[in-house]
Amino acid sequence: MQWIPPFDLKRYHLEPLLAARGIDPGWLADNSLDTYSPPNIARYSITKAADVIPFRYQAAIVDQPDVLAWCKELADRAFATQKANRSAIATISRGRSLLLLGLTGTGKTHQAYASIRELAITGAAATWAVTTAADLYAALRPRHGIDSEAEFRRYRDASILLVDDLGAERKPTEFTEEINFRLINWRYEHQLPTLITSNLLPKEISARLGDRVTSRLIEMCQRIVIEGPDRRRGEAA
Ligand SMILES: Nc1ncnc2c1ncn2[C@@H]1O[C@H](COP(=O)(O)OP(=O)(O)OP(=O)(O)O)[C@@H](O)[C@H]1O
Ligand SMILES: [Mg+2]
Repeated sequence: MQWIPPFDLKRYHLEPLLAARGIDPGWLADNSLDTYSPPNIARYSITKAADVIPFRYQAAIVDQPDVLAWCKELADRAFATQKANRSAIATISRGRSLLLLGLTGTGKTHQAYASIRELAITGAAATWAVTTAADLYAALRPRHGIDSEAEFRRYRDASILLVDDLGAERKPTEFTEEINFRLINWRYEHQLPTLITSNLLPKEISARLGDRVTSRLIEMCQRIVIEGPDRRRGEAA
């Protein structure tokens, strides 16, 4: 773990988030040189999370209570495991996954990236990988000079993985079905926390993703349906 000097909270849009969670900004600014200290791990995670969060969602804050409860559950588990194993640091490594469903523009991606920020400020360590399902398939297409298995493992093994827009492709192919199954099955078997968003209606999931992926998703995920208007059309106010 690397030492990350305290930074200006504004740079990572942290003031409203810390205030919403009742965290004293002084905690994050703790200046001891202990790289394993939760504040240093939080600073490290915040910088790493910011690297993967798209500009639009860099200030996102979780405002769905169920999503917040899921984040808390993961972090609590990491700290409880640390205590039980007397480990030097808490690591988010296992736990339930989250399936965020909802129509276009209801705020699924926003809640997903906000969850990553939420987990980053806890002081539990994690590695993040984020992708849309479409980008994942594109990145994994076998082509000259690319080790697509190594690329696949980067997503497969991340301690927190976000797969945005699962099931959004117009036509599933054998290739996308195989990627979905291999990825979800691995995350299922190893109980690795995975954030999945989808525009599919609950009743459409099985037809689109197949019974075997759906069955695993049902067991591994807490399912949250985000209701409301398309926020992009400005109807939310
Ligand atoms: N809770 C929120 N507070 C403030 N802005 C929000 C919130 N949720 C979403 N938004 C904003 O609304 C817009 C749409 O949100 P988002 O991109 O998360 O929708 P989505 O459900 O992922 O849509 P799609 O299904 O098309 O991917 C974005 O500009 C996002 O920043
Ligand atoms: Mg989205």
